Amino acid sequence: METLCKLNFLNNIKKLQTKFCSFILHVNTSRICPLQNIPDRINQLFIYQTLMHKPMATDRRKFLKQFGTSVILTSASLTSLAAKEEHEKRILQAEKRISSNDKIRIATIGMGIMGFNDTRAALSVPGVELVACADLYKGRLDRVKELYGNNIFTTADYREILNRKDIDAVIVATSDNWHSRISIEAMHKGKAVYSEKPMVHHISEGLKEIKAQQETKAVFQVGSQRVSSIAFKKAQELYQAGAIGKINAIEASFSRQSALGAWEYTIPLDASAQTVAWDQFQAGSKVKLDYDSNRFFRWRNYREYGTGVAGDLFVHLLTGIHFITGSKGPDKIFSIGGLTYWKDGRNVPDVMSAVISYPESPEHPAFQTTLRVNFVSGEGDRASTKIIGSEGVIDMSDGGGFTIHKSKMPVAPGYGGWDSFETYPEAMQKAIVEDYNKKYSAADRQAPKMDDVIYREPEGYNDSNEHFANFFDSMKTGKPVVEDAVFGFRAAAPCLACNDSYFENKVIKWDPVNMKLA
Ligand SMILES: NC(=O)c1ccc[n+]([C@@H]2O[C@H](COP(=O)([O-])OP(=O)(O)OC[C@H]3O[C@@H](n4cnc5c(N)ncnc54)[C@H](O)[C@@H]3O)[C@@H](O)[C@H]2O)c1
Repeated sequence: METLCKLNFLNNIKKLQTKFCSFILHVNTSRICPLQNIPDRINQLFIYQTLMHKPMATDRRKFLKQFGTSVILTSASLTSLAAKEEHEKRILQAEKRISSNDKIRIATIGMGIMGFNDTRAALSVPGVELVACADLYKGRLDRVKELYGNNIFTTADYREILNRKDIDAVIVATSDNWHSRISIEAMHKGKAVYSEKPMVHHISEGLKEIKAQQETKAVFQVGSQRVSSIAFKKAQELYQAGAIGKINAIEASFSRQSALGAWEYTIPLDASAQTVAWDQFQAGSKVKLDYDSNRFFRWRNYREYGTGVAGDLFVHLLTGIHFITGSKGPDKIFSIGGLTYWKDGRNVPDVMSAVISYPESPEHPAFQTTLRVNFVSGEGDRASTKIIGSEGVIDMSDGGGFTIHKSKMPVAPGYGGWDSFETYPEAMQKAIVEDYNKKYSAADRQAPKMDDVIYREPEGYNDSNEHFANFFDSMKTGKPVVEDAVFGFRAAAPCLACNDSYFENKVIKWDPVNMKLA
């Protein structure tokens, strides 16, 4: 009977999770977590009551006791349901606002892996219509027509797209070397721009792009979807409510262990100077090279077109970190790296580590960050961000949500164990104990018990769709974008500085407020 009841209960939870929302679970649920706000608590009880038809708190406690830890699930909070509802409300509002003649007409420039992904995410937002695509490889334009129909305008020359008056917004999903140039030109042509990360290829491009946005007043959003993620939003909220005390360190990394993970992407069999607009691809490069399929289809491996693991992946990590902490950025950056395994002609490291210092600021205390990307990792594929404070850690490892582990020091320092205590004569030990007992109460000697918090995104949740919904919302309502050029540059610049530090073997000093090398 007990097992059956438990099974039914878990099934109900599963159904609810699928149907509605993400979860916040408090591991020791018999206690009210001080961080939990009142609506959350009400929501917890609501879910419990819905499932068990037992509204009384005493019954609830009994139930929790009966089923032990698996009953953690009874405390599934609708805090995250609130976030989901907010999202749905916004989408519904968007739907209401859109009439058949105020559709948003978009074009994607750069129809590679992310171009197709971004286009799909953009089209998930009601009222958005794909009109045109630009790409430098003919096969990808053919694929656009296969997927979206022959009436989509396709071209190898993005300027043909920017010159069209019937396009409201462009997605810039090219290799990194083109982001800034195309985005600036697009803003000057009156387009709203969704630019993939990293916002710029070189630090020197950042302020120019910010200026272009300010002059044109274009809606401009950088495509780091963590900024729109409900998990990151929840982590930000709990961090700012003091969930982990005073922040002092962050550790974040990506580990991979595959050829595709290390950017050795599939090259089509017809790749050649006839099917690729190679001259256009390297138009901005100082040194012009003969056609090279590796350089075109695996551009991330070359500094001339990409930004290495730092620009490509550290930028996701710093974006999330800046979003949660509200930071404007670090002041000192140092990195080391090496090409240890993927010796395929690339000129960027496949293992890289950075040590970055964040100065005290109005937004946060001083803290240190270590970042690492490892493409030869025996750990397998893993992503991790741990935000460490004096009273806990927000562990965002492996996506889909996070766990907050809490731990607080007792007031009393303790004695014995791995300590000098036992090295003293017995009489001295006795005197120390007496003195200690006088100084510290029993409560002082206990480490406070603190509940862990587990947050899970709802099943099927997609932060890229959310990021696009936010972008189009700004276009329609005029409200500020969630990730503007200043935020985008403040996340990208320290990552690009990691490359400079590695290649020039020096510490880079950065002014995070004025966004300039110091
Ligand atoms: N936000 C994310 O999670 C995320 C994930 C992956 C990639 N990205 C970003 O998306 C961008 C694209 O990455 P990808 O993996 O799709 O690369 P990709 O090589 O698959 O596609 C890039 C495409 O851009 C086209 N291109 C390059 N220069 C162009 C130009 N001047 N005009 C028109 N087309 C041009 C190329 O022909 C190519 O097809 C990168 O900047 C990357 O950092 C972001």
